[in-house]
Amino acid sequence: MGAFNVRICVVAACLFLASQATGYTMDDLCKQWSGTGYIGNPSNCRGWGYCKNQQTVKWGTCGDELVFNAQTGSCEYATTTPCSTSAVQTCSAIKSPIYVANLLNCTEYAHCDGQGKIAYGDCGVGGVFSESTTSCKWGPACPQDNICRFMPSNIFVGDPNKCGNYINCINGYGTSTACTESPSIYYNAATGKCQSTNPCTGGNTNSGDSQFTVGQISEEACNTEDFDAAEALTVDGETVDYKYVSDSETCYGYYYCAKAGALGYWNQCPTGTQFNSKLGKCVSPASFVCTHNRCGNVNSKFMAVEGCLSYTICSSGATASCPSTSKYYDEVNNICTNTIPKYTICSST
Ligand SMILES: *[C@@H]1O[C@H](CO)[C@@H](O)[C@H](O)[C@H]1NC(C)=O
Repeated sequence: MGAFNVRICVVAACLFLASQATGYTMDDLCKQWSGTGYIGNPSNCRGWGYCKNQQTVKWGTCGDELVFNAQTGSCEYATTTPCSTSAVQTCSAIKSPIYVANLLNCTEYAHCDGQGKIAYGDCGVGGVFSESTTSCKWGPACPQDNICRFMPSNIFVGDPNKCGNYINCINGYGTSTACTESPSIYYNAATGKCQSTNPCTGGNTNSGDSQFTVGQISEEACNTEDFDAAEALTVDGETVDYKYVSDSETCYGYYYCAKAGALGYWNQCPTGTQFNSKLGKCVSPASFVCTHNRCGNVNSKFMAVEGCLSYTICSSGATASCPSTSKYYDEVNNICTNTIPKYTICSST
């Protein structure tokens, strides 16, 4: 459990501002890869992780003035290598003119002049920018929204949006592909092989309901009422125009809303955290009361029920209680205790 606590702090501290670009966490990436090696951090282009046995076992950050190049697996000079997570960061450092994707809006692209300035262009209605070919294409799928962006080149990984399919990552890109050699029609991300039995029907409620996919668009999510009610966000002390609005169905999903009435883009919190709409942030699940399924997006077998006098068994959804001698369930430490834990989820009834 110690490791789990540390992870919560690390994830929470890493915030999720930049992760809105793709919504993937390093755990999400490692889960799809049967191999061992370095990957990029989807929330920070200087960061890297190391996957082994489908888990992130190490992580770190490149030195000042460097960015991590996931395709080569090395730290490279920001003066010559684009930042995989931010056009603004790319343009502030890169020394030669280049077109890069605006990861916040695939209709737009950014042009860095090589001297620190950024300008935005527009692919027009229905168009999306493709960074690999530096050209506009027909949408709606955004070519950059691909886990290969953060993975080594020339590997096979599972498709996080379609379990049973694989993606062959080459230079940061790849398309979802089905195994075709009947009867081995299912890709198993754990073994890296196609097999005849479906590895995706394990009833894994921990990974949450999959009614949403990252980047999914909603026309209603950013309606004026919900947008106005959402918390104003500040970045570096300044209030920004966009807001995050809860998806009202999961504890960990939210929509990115550029403004009231804009299209909403669904995204999810880093694993282990959930979306607190009162703060407009992804935080520790114990620090607020989410009234939807609290088992979503956490790697926990049990999650407390409000008040902490009982807990949910995530695999079944059933409720159970601690023994009367230590009647409170502490979900952060995964223990029953006789003093009420000091988390909001325990104290708020
Ligand atoms: C994306 O950019 C286009 C072109 O500048 C703009 O019309 C559209 O409103 C933007 N969408 C969002 C969600 O910001």
